[in-house]
Amino acid sequence: MYDLIILGGGPAGYNAAERAAHGGLKTLVIEERALGGVCLNEGCIPTKTLLYSAKIYDYAKHSADYGVTFGSASIDHNFVVERKNKVVKQLVSGIGAKLKKAGVEVVNATAAIKERNADGFVVTAADKEYVGKQLLICTGSSAAIPPIDGLKDSLASGFALTNREVLDLKEIPKTIVVVGGGVIGLEMASYFNSVGSKVYVLEMLDHIAGATDGEISKMLQKEYASRGVEFILGAKVTSIKDKAVSYEKDGKVSKLDADYALVSIGRRPRTQGIGCENIGLKLERGAIVTNEYGKTNVPGVWAAGDVNGKSMLAHTAYREGEVCINNILGKKDRINYNSIPSVIYTNPEVASVGETSESCKAKGIDAKIDTVTLKYSGRYVAENEHGNGVVKIITDKAHNNIIGVHIYGTYASEIIYGAAMMVETEMRVADVQKLVFPHPTVCEVIREAMFM
Ligand code: NAI
Repeated sequence: MYDLIILGGGPAGYNAAERAAHGGLKTLVIEERALGGVCLNEGCIPTKTLLYSAKIYDYAKHSADYGVTFGSASIDHNFVVERKNKVVKQLVSGIGAKLKKAGVEVVNATAAIKERNADGFVVTAADKEYVGKQLLICTGSSAAIPPIDGLKDSLASGFALTNREVLDLKEIPKTIVVVGGGVIGLEMASYFNSVGSKVYVLEMLDHIAGATDGEISKMLQKEYASRGVEFILGAKVTSIKDKAVSYEKDGKVSKLDADYALVSIGRRPRTQGIGCENIGLKLERGAIVTNEYGKTNVPGVWAAGDVNGKSMLAHTAYREGEVCINNILGKKDRINYNSIPSVIYTNPEVASVGETSESCKAKGIDAKIDTVTLKYSGRYVAENEHGNGVVKIITDKAHNNIIGVHIYGTYASEIIYGAAMMVETEMRVADVQKLVFPHPTVCEVIREAMFM
């Protein structure tokens, strides 16, 4: 008998497990693949490993701009993939060691909820039954596979790839079609563009990068277009077969021949096959419905991470898992979804938090919007020969507090947490003006923007 059984050992599950054990709960995690989930095994970490090699390669190709020359640069894709595997292995075993140290039990099997009985919730895994007084469901998400003509067969033949297979390609494709210009699509487009593939991005909407601030989305598109990526927007993919992707745009059907097609059109919560129906869990559009405390409609059952469909980001998952554990332990806690930062690890990076120009307009917020060039930063100019980065600050005119920050440029991913704190704590412009930022840094442009 466990105090808590956690289904899924991704960021939501493994982090929550550690917090739960530290809080004195006898905790079991059941994970069917590897600890770390999609983020560590086939998402955030592997892509960042690949992208870091691509970044070094790009720097090498442009080093003459900084007075450094050497023989021509080359990249060994298979070495990059091997290194990615090494990084992942190291981190997966690190999580295992942390959980062991915390006293969390881990079972490597597929779990399903069988029933609720007088003792608690019965979960089956590898022909065994486990009983927990409470349950935390962290089963994550899987790549959305729409009913596009030929897609199933193309996935089976290896022509079509999801975020999982694309990370282990044995060769650099001559041509790759990326279906979906969201986060995964853009990060992988960036990698393949850097390493020499011809990249097409087919996007259904009239812009890339989803809910990213419109101005910054356009800057990113322009940058990658100048490097040779072809963006085809407003395109509806009609078939993925016979080593080609067909799409309809403005009433005309066209076809792109390619070596591979990456399908990155979003993710779906993983709620099928885990027995939600056996305890009457409420789902909406396939996601487990939770409130701000992580509670589901069934007392004693909690859910965190992608499975609730709210904000499919690993860092949201960490916090959601923690919120659940704190509430289980009797410490009231809730998550503020308005101040969750997001990053697209292209080069330059895009990092955002809070409202955008577009969301302010949609919500009728009277906002002051300042877009400031990163060239105000001495460090930025020193390190970015052709850089055109910006930071965009959105302030609510009614209270003069910071409600959105969007950065396009180097270090954006590392800077954004400071901006997230400003949004989370509802800092006013006058408060930020009093803060001392380190100099010379790129982040000090945020302070500069407060005086615009
Ligand atoms: P996404 O939701 O970011 O982007 C999917 C894109 O595909 C959208 O722009 C959508 O309009 C487009 N689309 C949908 N159907 C289409 C069709 N039939 N033809 C053409 N375009 C179509 O989803 P993505 O990139 O698959 O990422 C999945 C999740 O993983 C996201 O929630 C994302 O936040 C997360 N993620 C986060 C990363 C990060 O934080 N850096 C990195 C990678 C993924």
